[in-house]
Amino acid sequence: MASKTTISVIKCDVGSLAGHHTVPSPLLKIGEKRLREAQKKGLVNSHYVFHAGDDLELLMVHNQGEDNPEIHKLAWNTFEESAKKASVLKLYGAGQDILKTAFSGNVRGMGPGVAEMEIEERKSDPIVVFAADKTEPGAFNYPLFRIFADPTNTAGLVIDPDLAEGFKFEVLDVIENKKVVLKCPEEMYELIALIGTPSRYVVSHVWRARDDLVCAATSTTRLSLIAGKYVGKDDPVSIVRAQHGLPALGEILAPFMHSYLVEGWMRGSHWGPLMPVGLKDSKCTAFDGPPRIVALGFQVANGKISSDGGTPLISDLFDDPAFDLARREALEMAVTLRRMGEFEPARLSAESMEYTTLPKILEKLKDRFEPISIATKIPLLSTH
Ligand code: F6R
Ligand code: MG
Ligand code: MG
Repeated sequence: MASKTTISVIKCDVGSLAGHHTVPSPLLKIGEKRLREAQKKGLVNSHYVFHAGDDLELLMVHNQGEDNPEIHKLAWNTFEESAKKASVLKLYGAGQDILKTAFSGNVRGMGPGVAEMEIEERKSDPIVVFAADKTEPGAFNYPLFRIFADPTNTAGLVIDPDLAEGFKFEVLDVIENKKVVLKCPEEMYELIALIGTPSRYVVSHVWRARDDLVCAATSTTRLSLIAGKYVGKDDPVSIVRAQHGLPALGEILAPFMHSYLVEGWMRGSHWGPLMPVGLKDSKCTAFDGPPRIVALGFQVANGKISSDGGTPLISDLFDDPAFDLARREALEMAVTLRRMGEFEPARLSAESMEYTTLPKILEKLKDRFEPISIATKIPLLSTH
């Protein structure tokens, strides 16, 4: 049997230039240098270093399997070196997502975000990697639902008999740390009931129902929950497989023809419109956003990213006028929400704010709150 191929995307906010908006070139260069060395040693077969806003993203294709300690250590060491460089340059938020100091075999739970998928390569295997900044893993719930379960998005669900049996979704409850698998179309309503709450229920994997072929994997940790105090949203990554009995590339991208609202944006505390952008616009500026998403398309072939003389062939999928309307919509929604300032629903609910400032404000005011007596209540009510 041919050896399996693993696609790993491991990301970390190691520090940004001028606030939390982008990853400057010295840090990208460290990523490139480290992964090139690993490629020379044969640990990884191909790599691509990029950034989504202030997150350094390491795309690695290799044969080491998921959760491999050496691959995770490579990512961890790269992030540590980048964070050190960020400190030397006095970049902002240097080492922001490096929550623990001692590496213990796996970066999960230590700050960085991870999406990995081990596959048996098909005759031709088109892959899309999504990376978003200023939002959280549940931001992928809506597009993953549309791609793999919504026949108004994915024509193949109706037209292609290979998709007709539907897809299975693994949903994580990130608050209670448990998971459930739901099959669509049969359990579509139950699926929507859960993943319509993206801050709690997160789609972590999708499989084709007829043969359990893995077709999507998403990063799922939530930093705010790992750290016990607010340290930023866990800006997510996702890997999706395309074509030949799976949703076509165009069906995978179709949900992004419109913008939609996600949690995150400024201080991780606001609803904001997700804006699909090319790599050149992958920086979060206005009100630290709007939250942005990039998408890279490539082929895996014989354990590598298909390349041209060693240069990986990567298509910057949202660098395309086809997404201009979504960008325009995102801006329109952004200004509408910002006009509301710190009033819900522009700001996240009180429940979400419990991870941030609300407890401190309540603590500060606790001695000034007075019980409302019936006598005070009655005149108030009677004025209405
Ligand atoms: C959100 C984010 C930024 C910061 C904001 C305040 O994920 O990273 O919106 O929360 O810029 O940052 P500090 O507190 O570092 O000044
Ligand atoms: Mg940051
Ligand atoms: Mg970020």
